[in-house]
Amino acid sequence: MSSELSRPAERRPAGRVASATPSRTVWAMDLIEALRTTGAVRDFLPEPVSDDVVYRLLDTARFAPNGGNRQAWQVVVVQDPATKLALRDLYLPGWYEYLPQMEAGLTPFAAVTDREAEAQAIARAPEIAARAADAPPGFAERFHESPVLLVLLANLRYLATVDRDLGRYTLVGGASIYPFAWNILLAAHEEGLGGVITTMPILREPGVKALLDVPDHVAVAGVLALGYPVKRATRLTRNPVESFATVDRYDGPEFTG
Ligand SMILES: Cc1cc2nc3c(=O)[nH]c(=O)nc-3n(C[C@H](O)[C@H](O)[C@H](O)COP(=O)(O)O)c2cc1C
Repeated sequence: MSSELSRPAERRPAGRVASATPSRTVWAMDLIEALRTTGAVRDFLPEPVSDDVVYRLLDTARFAPNGGNRQAWQVVVVQDPATKLALRDLYLPGWYEYLPQMEAGLTPFAAVTDREAEAQAIARAPEIAARAADAPPGFAERFHESPVLLVLLANLRYLATVDRDLGRYTLVGGASIYPFAWNILLAAHEEGLGGVITTMPILREPGVKALLDVPDHVAVAGVLALGYPVKRATRLTRNPVESFATVDRYDGPEFTG
């Protein structure tokens, strides 16, 4: 927060504090601390998350910035176990296509990539799936067990996608949706929850849309999995500022502050 005016008069102390709910401890944290520590959580306790809590997350997330304030997001809170399982089944094929690309040293599904090398890697998906069947189930295989699954949709009629005609991969539309997703994850952290945004199911978008009766002009932007974390990372691995910030030009000197 840059302006004193935007600060709450009294900030809550950072760190662990007792919550109103005796059974749980809630993290009340400083904004900067939250931004630096909200890592992906994929291991959840079996404890359910109440609808009240999920509602609160969405109620906070809706203040996300978005192009023209058209608020193109839509959320399907998936509660039906059969629908959750169907989403898992739509997640898995993409995951088994992702893994061999990683193993081949590719950035999976990169916007600009060697499509031949990618196709060769993806051809190994059945082998990867068979290998996974013999291993203990991971997050992907247990996706449907996530206490909360939120399917995040984007109404394309409300997305001001100013880069849509540039003849390159478009970015701007997503920028009106993903801050909302990030707000959910930040608010979840504050509630003592953890989670992750997933995009693997989008590789099977027609299946997701058919499953949820999503109309043509609405796209799937992700599926958020949330729950009370088994554990939470305290240090996230990210590149230093000098590796991505330069002065005046793309190839200018490193910005070192
Ligand atoms: C746009 C986007 C798509 C992602 N898709 C997936 C996904 O499909 N499955 C998954 O497990 N994690 C997914 N993630 C989570 C990333 O893997 C995670 O943010 C990144 O690896 C950093 O991990 P960390 O927070 O544990 O350091 C996605 C994250 C973003 C922002």
